[in-house]
Amino acid sequence: MKTLNVNIDHVATVREARAGKEPDPVSAALSAESAGAKGIVCHLREDRRHINDRDVQNLREVIQSKLDLEMAANEEIIKIALNLKPDLVTIVPEGRMELTTEGGLDVAGNTEKFKSLTDRMHSKGIEVSFFVEPDKKQIEASLSCSADMVEFHTGNFANANDENIEKELKKIISASKIAFNSGLKIAAGHGINYLNIRPLCLIPEIGEFSIGHSIISRAIYVGIEIATREMIEVISKSSIK
Ligand code: PXP
Repeated sequence: MKTLNVNIDHVATVREARAGKEPDPVSAALSAESAGAKGIVCHLREDRRHINDRDVQNLREVIQSKLDLEMAANEEIIKIALNLKPDLVTIVPEGRMELTTEGGLDVAGNTEKFKSLTDRMHSKGIEVSFFVEPDKKQIEASLSCSADMVEFHTGNFANANDENIEKELKKIISASKIAFNSGLKIAAGHGINYLNIRPLCLIPEIGEFSIGHSIISRAIYVGIEIATREMIEVISKSSIK
């Protein structure tokens, strides 16, 4: 069964709107876990706009499932990750002005840097995933950098109109086959919601989904536990058995 990792960044976004103490992303993570999430994802950004250093420490101490630290390949954050020892780091591109991660990482354009990052993470027992476009060149580059996993950027698929949605879906389908046949684990993330996840569930090679915005948005009305459980139910019902 495909598993769900819940990104709790936006719980911290609401907290930071008042620079206060609530809502607490760690409590949200525990609720997501008790609803069946198999992983908790958070992005420690260079500008600390939502998740902060204390959050990642607290998450490391209390969560029982997989901790996936999303991060840019920035030396300050790399050092924090090496000390924190999350189960997985997902390496993403990061731009100061962006509202959220806007696209995949260009691993192919800097394999030396990314190979060295992977080696440093592996030396501490931390697995490495690269957040890339569903593209053969980036998959091969990730493999050459000793990645354990790739996460395909599904933003273009999620934002596609009726005319190009099939084309975007096909890119994810064929990239998943290539990555899977290379021995990489596969996740998908960005812009996934309770409806558009259905065709992605039919891709057998995808093992995990990393979802934040739609679950946290739904949680405003029904709470994190129900919002998480509902997403797990959609995944279960939509996946090939
Ligand atoms: N995966 C990665 C690598 C991301 O950067 C994000 C956004 O933080 C997500 C998944 C989750 O995207 P969304 O919030 O649109 O579900």
